[in-house]
Amino acid sequence: MLSRQVADKLAKYETPFYLYDIELLNQTLESLMSIANRYSYKIHYAIKANYDARLLQIIRKYGVGIDCASGNEVRCAIEAGFDPKSIVYAGVGKRDKEIRYAIEQNIFAINCESIEEIDLVNDLAAEAGKVVNIALRVNPDIDPKTNHCIDTGQADSKFGISYEEILSSVEHIRSLKNVLVIGMHIHIGSQIRELHVFENMCNKVNVIVENLTNLGFELEFVDVGGGLGVNYDMPENEPIPNFASVFAIIKQHLKVGDREVHFEFGRSIVAQCGELITKVLYNKTTATGRRLVIVDGSMTELIRPALYGSYHNIENITSEADQRLKYTIVGTACESTDVFDENVSLPLTKRGDLITIKSAGAYGMSMASRYNQHDLPGAVYSDEL
Ligand code: LLP
Repeated sequence: MLSRQVADKLAKYETPFYLYDIELLNQTLESLMSIANRYSYKIHYAIKANYDARLLQIIRKYGVGIDCASGNEVRCAIEAGFDPKSIVYAGVGKRDKEIRYAIEQNIFAINCESIEEIDLVNDLAAEAGKVVNIALRVNPDIDPKTNHCIDTGQADSKFGISYEEILSSVEHIRSLKNVLVIGMHIHIGSQIRELHVFENMCNKVNVIVENLTNLGFELEFVDVGGGLGVNYDMPENEPIPNFASVFAIIKQHLKVGDREVHFEFGRSIVAQCGELITKVLYNKTTATGRRLVIVDGSMTELIRPALYGSYHNIENITSEADQRLKYTIVGTACESTDVFDENVSLPLTKRGDLITIKSAGAYGMSMASRYNQHDLPGAVYSDEL
């Protein structure tokens, strides 16, 4: 929990804003990279989780590459100084101009998600007079045991190419002159807390890689995506995700010879270092007896609770009252689902108190919108307080 001293320092900033704990981000990256380097695993940061320039600057210093989901994300990564050769680019709906840009920038690999996309990359690469490295994003048909809104690798999902479709297109893909399949990519979902799911994933990947190799693809790398979850319930108990456990599982179960193994972690790198600081505007009680606290943040700054029913731990960081009450914390947006949480036990809360919504560093700011013409939230960094 933020100390009273820090809370006092926050009073001068206009709420709502994201507060980033720079020390925690550094510790998280140190933990991640020290283990990844031991195994020679390559890490790409999924920039969709948070593209804050200051955070990117820190992430870049650790020798991490980038995973992108759009042409603008590729541009953002390159402008932030990441080596194009460390960038992978996935996405089910890449526009022609985005593919052209990725080809122009000579990124490490375009992870293709349909046969038609492979054809288009081939045509655009021919136009540019290049042979472009691609990876096949295979849909592995795995239930990642996470919130259904954020799974990405079940058979019916829009992501990746079904294994059957790849099999029936092998000859065609191999006949294309301007793309070279150098990798295989999967991503099964996000916020995965049941680590045995990664074991199932390895077993699937082993079979797919072996089969693709037998079919004549010379795969240099296997990209197993991101997905490692964080502790939203009790962030203080687990500020740094357990990278060691997931790498140990991968090391034990992934059998892909001397191919490079790549990961694309987003949430696990930045979720816990960010929190949304809001201020209480009003208190009121509904006719049904529900005690509402209306804060000056909303789903336009942090959409996860409204969109996925996600839980974020909430605290009042300025009230010193002994009495605790149960509150429903709601935002300012003109939407009934704009509720951060219900039945939150907080010390007696009044207008002007600061309320923090924790574990919001991933998919918080990057999903912010200007609905109701709200201003986008600012950012405050712990080392600049
Ligand atoms: N790679 C690919 C291809 C992905 O689709 C994703 C996330 C990642 C990497 C990063 O996964 P992570 O390590 O962050 O789990 N907005 C949602 C999460 C959507 C995740 C989509 N894909 C949320 O707020 O929970």
